[in-house]
Amino acid sequence: MWSSMQAHVAMVVALAFLVSGDWCGPPKVPPGKNITATYGSDWLDAKATWYGKPTGAGPDDNGGGCGYKDVNKPPFNSMGACSNIPIFKDGLGCGSCFEIKCDKPAECSGKPAVVYITDMNYEPIAAYQFDLAGTAFGTMAKKGEEEKLRKASIIDMQF
Ligand SMILES: *[C@@H]1O[C@H](CO)[C@@H](O)[C@H](O)[C@H]1NC(C)=O
Repeated sequence: MWSSMQAHVAMVVALAFLVSGDWCGPPKVPPGKNITATYGSDWLDAKATWYGKPTGAGPDDNGGGCGYKDVNKPPFNSMGACSNIPIFKDGLGCGSCFEIKCDKPAECSGKPAVVYITDMNYEPIAAYQFDLAGTAFGTMAKKGEEEKLRKASIIDMQF
């Protein structure tokens, strides 16, 4: 027979499950420290995903959470990215630019590309996340391997 202590523990566990049980996606990762200019030139790890059309600018209407229009045209030229809290910073991060690159999978060129924050994405998949326009994601690939890299859909990257 259960003691009241065991019953209490079981109830707490059940409650904890109920509270966290509505998340069905990948494991939650807390956001990293806010990125500011004092971070200097060190490369940091992030996860990259992409959205919109494979060779598009991201949002179907070429807009996004920063309120920009025509992000498929200069100055952004489809090199936009959604970022998570420590990079988007409630909009303070809009328009800031980052060098991004990847080494894995084999389609990655390892050469830096420059992207601009034009949108937000608060899915907690990594401390830092760039949900890139399809075009921007492709620019991390070796020439001709953009489509194959996009098939990976989520990769480790540095920024
Ligand atoms: C990080 O930025 C967010 C959004 O601007 C802000 O709410 C939060 O307080 C900042 N955190 C720190 C530790 O500065």
